[in-house]
Amino acid sequence: MSLSPDFTKRSNPSYKGNRMNTGKRVVLTGFMGVGKSSVGRHLAHILNSERIDLDFFIEKNEKRKVNDIIDSDGEAAYRSIESANLQRLLDETTAQVISLGGGTWIVDANRELIRARGITSIWLESTFEHCWYNIKFSHKERPLARDKNKAAKLFEERKKTYCLADWHFIIKPEYSSYDIAKLIHDEYFV
Ligand code: S3P
Repeated sequence: MSLSPDFTKRSNPSYKGNRMNTGKRVVLTGFMGVGKSSVGRHLAHILNSERIDLDFFIEKNEKRKVNDIIDSDGEAAYRSIESANLQRLLDETTAQVISLGGGTWIVDANRELIRARGITSIWLESTFEHCWYNIKFSHKERPLARDKNKAAKLFEERKKTYCLADWHFIIKPEYSSYDIAKLIHDEYFV
């Protein structure tokens, strides 16, 4: 089967997979507001499988909101908590679909951990304006995206790390979250 034009596989020498079999795990990465949570929810539904959103997992375990942790303890402290919870999530659950936070993939140790577990990473790639639109209309409080200019700078900085993901899915404006999940499913899970 040929790849759809929306997908590209990066030439990653450490990438071991080709087609994914049902039962394999994926992480969804990408900037805040790109739709990692909603695509993950639809993908898990299509797969009839479990999905875990790392932010919710952190909030359940830490009994605090992610935005409270960042606002009170600072981003560096939050990143340690996030990494510990990522490890715990991978150790303690068998969720097939994992929606990361927008900064999880940026931390070297997190990427190494994900790769070491043989989990395929998928970058949901979109424009900053698309992400910003979703950020503005979302109820989720995002301390690192309160200021548009700062968020745009972060978006540019992070691209070079997001593109280290195994697969890229380029989101077109006409796609719904379900469309994206279905395309990912049809490309990797069948
Ligand atoms: C963050 C993204 C957020 C959340 C936290 C930090 C980031 O998740 O983990 O506010 O650094 O990009 P979403 O990507 O789901 O908004």
